[in-house]
Amino acid sequence: MSGTLTLPSLRNLTAADRSRIEAISRAVGLFRADEIPVALEVFDGAVAGSPDYLALGAEHDGRLAGWICWGPTPCTLGTYDLYWMAVDPALHGGGVGTALLQAMEARLAGVARLIVVETAGRPDYAPTRAFYEARGYRAVSRIPNFYAPGDDQVVYTKALAGSPPVESSGRASALRQKDG
Ligand SMILES: CC(C)(COP(=O)(O)OP(=O)(O)OC[C@H]1O[C@@H](n2cnc3c(N)ncnc32)[C@H](O)[C@@H]1OP(=O)(O)O)[C@@H](O)C(=O)NCCC(=O)NCCS
Repeated sequence: MSGTLTLPSLRNLTAADRSRIEAISRAVGLFRADEIPVALEVFDGAVAGSPDYLALGAEHDGRLAGWICWGPTPCTLGTYDLYWMAVDPALHGGGVGTALLQAMEARLAGVARLIVVETAGRPDYAPTRAFYEARGYRAVSRIPNFYAPGDDQVVYTKALAGSPPVESSGRASALRQKDG
């Protein structure tokens, strides 16, 4: 779609959103089949109240339109990972992703000093990279063939204004994955 939707309403996610999250994750057509269970694992952690995974959903026309999940990066001081983000492809370009990203950043103000996003360097991820770049995220590293042969990892960061109290973000977590 093109043009901005009316502002999506943001809300906390519940376990009842799981099938819709799975459907959106599959529908975007970018994630490999083996990545979908990782998205759901992160979702499950978030709705179970894990302090490692914080998430928000966006609704459009009374239906879940997208979601975002982030959390403190283990063994860092004030660094947070954006672990996963996806919007219903029927609504891409309508402002839902921007609303979710801004909501995450607002919640991290005064808490985080750095946001990290790991994404892919493949050509089909070019719109995703453009999305982050236009919103102040800077590509700081690229690991060739990280996800698979010919599928590089590109790491983006965004420094948040202000100086949050420096305390460890670090909780050991087994879950590390391509998000975004
Ligand atoms: C990336 C994504 C979350 C952005 O959400 P969105 O609701 O489409 O984004 P918005 O409408 O707020 O912003 C549109 C911007 O996103 C970018 N964009 C990314 N994919 C797009 C698409 N399919 N259609 C239109 N714009 C897209 C454009 O650069 C556009 O820039 P502009 O505002 O300068 O025109 C969403 O497109 C998506 O779910 N992509 C597939 C999954 C994904 O890549 N997740 C992140 C993995 S790291």
